[in-house]
Amino acid sequence: MSLSCVYSGAVHGVDAVAVEVEVNAADSGNIDIKLVGLPDAAVRESVDRVITAVKNSGLRWPNKPITINLAPADLRKEGPSFDLPIAVGMVSLSEEQNGPLKDGALEKCLIVGELALDGRVRPIKGILPLTLEAKKQGKKAILVPKGNAMEASIVEGIYVYGIETLREAYELLAGTGNISPEKLDREAFFQSKQTYPIDFNEVKGQAHAKRSLEVSMAGGHNILMLGSPGTGKSMLAKRLTTVLPTMSEAEAIETTKIHSVAGLVDAKNSFLATRPFRSPHHTISDVGLLGGSSHPTPGEVSLAHNGILFLDELPEFRRSTLEVMRQPLEDGQVTISRAAGKFTFPSRFSLVAAMNPCPCGYLGDPARDCRCSPNQIEKYRQRISGPLLDRIDLHIDVPAVNYKELRAESGGESSAVIRERVEEARNVQLTRFVSHPGVNTNADMGSRLVSKFCVLDKASERTLELAMDSLNFSARAYDRILKVARTLADLEGDMDIREVHVMEAIQYRTLDRNLWA
Ligand SMILES: Nc1ncnc2c1ncn2[C@@H]1O[C@H](COP(=O)(O)OP(=O)(O)OP(=O)(O)O)[C@@H](O)[C@H]1O
Ligand SMILES: [Mg+2]
Ligand SMILES: [Zn+2]
Repeated sequence: MSLSCVYSGAVHGVDAVAVEVEVNAADSGNIDIKLVGLPDAAVRESVDRVITAVKNSGLRWPNKPITINLAPADLRKEGPSFDLPIAVGMVSLSEEQNGPLKDGALEKCLIVGELALDGRVRPIKGILPLTLEAKKQGKKAILVPKGNAMEASIVEGIYVYGIETLREAYELLAGTGNISPEKLDREAFFQSKQTYPIDFNEVKGQAHAKRSLEVSMAGGHNILMLGSPGTGKSMLAKRLTTVLPTMSEAEAIETTKIHSVAGLVDAKNSFLATRPFRSPHHTISDVGLLGGSSHPTPGEVSLAHNGILFLDELPEFRRSTLEVMRQPLEDGQVTISRAAGKFTFPSRFSLVAAMNPCPCGYLGDPARDCRCSPNQIEKYRQRISGPLLDRIDLHIDVPAVNYKELRAESGGESSAVIRERVEEARNVQLTRFVSHPGVNTNADMGSRLVSKFCVLDKASERTLELAMDSLNFSARAYDRILKVARTLADLEGDMDIREVHVMEAIQYRTLDRNLWA
């Protein structure tokens, strides 16, 4: 044989595409190894690594001019994941010395992996999308680095072989090795991963904050917490994922794919069955938040997909950074254009933000005096961009808990109890919006749907009108109050919005109230 074809793949966005590695040995010409097919620097370096790895594995390749072609030629190939398929392609041309491969072995497999100089196989990024692609192509098996085997084995209906060395890969293909496919009890694995190490009942007191957070999760409403340092804002935010509906397997795979491409999935923690919680620091760059760089990687908005994005100390974020959040917040995805192509990463998350009520932090604190002037406070609050604030339905105060509450034995309801109510309210919404694609929660409603689904009776109408006038609410508060009232009714299983719901919804507009009125 003087031509061999090994099947591999390349990650593109959060998916993978097929790449064929063709290795050809010519009968005459200068002995040399050429790599063609739009490889980047890391792939070009691959040839040197592969030659050393093959030698150190005690395998042979033909002593002839060799051309390695990565097809399709117009797709930019990045990273070191082609080492193993290239090596396999080269040594498969010397079957006489290395031992014969099983018939059709190469056609049945997809092969990926980086090689170390001693022939060992190193883990790579994006294994989950690559394995899904292998299955889509109808491959019987995928050969992956041992360190990635757990992650790959989440995919059903394909044999996953965790490979430790180049020699092991060759022996598997020759049918002489004794390596067996990875086995995973997917059901049990999924179940075991669905528990959180933290719980809402660890937070003492804060009944008002907890209630508002439940409302926010129930209706998909973004929320902003205002409170002095140490009142428990971060503690509450971290526990929000624990009251969101349990992730479906499809959602879990979607989220894991994003983390896989970002290289954040490790051998032990191979699957995200629980919702992600991301809390980027306020110094984060736009690329870090949205994704990008020359080799497109998902940003924080995508890593938070199906979970929570927590922006602590919101006014400290650069204004431009907050502005760029508009696209993901509105579309549930981000599009990044780069030389390597156009990439779309999903980014549907709940936004949870926190801030101090004023620059010194102690406005409204019973124990400490605020040293800020009205002007300073105004300026501080104005740092949050209007468009972003427009996407936040609830703003709440998180006051300090008193000593007696902190000493209490328990913090009340557990996350599981709250989650049940959230799930029920979400189900009501799924039924309501069944004929409105793209709308899953009350928060997603545009003004047309608000007028359809948030009809008020006379008494509620009057209450809202009074509040709008006396509390100086802006017009943009109106729709938000209605949507939140809808969620409050849903939490109670009420068909109609009642006055109590409107009255409660009005309380969640701290920032709309004129501070000095
Ligand atoms: N309600 C509470 N129940 C139990 N512990 C609490 C509560 N509030 C605060 N704590 C304790 O105080 C610590 C500080 O809380 P946390 O970091 O959440 O405050 P914060 O509001 O985020 O403060 P900052 O504004 O400084 O970020 C927590 O780690 C926790 O130990
Ligand atoms: Mg904090
Ligand atoms: Zn202050």
